[in-house]
Amino acid sequence: MFKYVEITNDNIELASKIQLKIFPGESAYIHYKDAIKSNLEYYKYYLVYENDTIVGITGLYSHENINDTNSIWLGWFGVLKEFRNKGYGRHILLDTINMATILAEKYPIRYFRLYTSEKDNITAVHLYRKIMDIEEKYNNPDDVNYDNNCIIFSKALSENPITYWNNRFMNLKEIIAQQELSNIEVFK
Ligand SMILES: CC(C)(COP(=O)(O)OP(=O)(O)OC[C@H]1O[C@@H](n2cnc3c(N)ncnc32)[C@H](O)[C@@H]1OP(=O)(O)O)[C@@H](O)C(=O)NCCC(=O)NCCS
Repeated sequence: MFKYVEITNDNIELASKIQLKIFPGESAYIHYKDAIKSNLEYYKYYLVYENDTIVGITGLYSHENINDTNSIWLGWFGVLKEFRNKGYGRHILLDTINMATILAEKYPIRYFRLYTSEKDNITAVHLYRKIMDIEEKYNNPDDVNYDNNCIIFSKALSENPITYWNNRFMNLKEIIAQQELSNIEVFK
């Protein structure tokens, strides 16, 4: 039903505009640039189309060594306001998990994970509780934890047994710092 168009240098400006409508004041521009530069199959962001209309965004990344964590993460996932509450978010999330499952045939990926703030993303958390296998608080003393509201959801791909992330360092600090640089570049 949906078409996933990779974000590249050709559509990054459009993608950024859409992303900013979904996450006002939080720019993904530098993350998008970084993904394009990396040229890795498991680090890509997408515009989501229904026919010729853009309805949302999604993405996958793995900043850690994939051989070490066996994990791929959901990044910059959302639906434009006018298309919400119609099941699109659920559908896009399931399609993104499917993309991760396909990547897991080629790379040592066993778990699909995501982090969010329990306090700021109630609707998303509601959806994640239905789709994902487990949830845990993220609380690493060397990292950001959104005032103790950061939670990680994980789902096992294929037949793998699920494992917790167990507060391993995620470097949210760096992810947020990049995003702040992005904001400076985009809102200057
Ligand atoms: C989170 C988001 C992607 C959900 O998209 P959506 O298209 O509205 O989601 P869906 O219509 O598929 O609904 C998903 C589920 O949440 C439920 N839901 C929707 N709004 C809800 C609400 N306010 N309270 C409780 N449940 C809600 C739906 O009933 C549905 O459950 P169901 O599948 O059992 O029927 C969308 O709200 C969004 O883009 N928000 C801004 C960006 C964001 O927060 N992204 C995630 C960052 S972690």
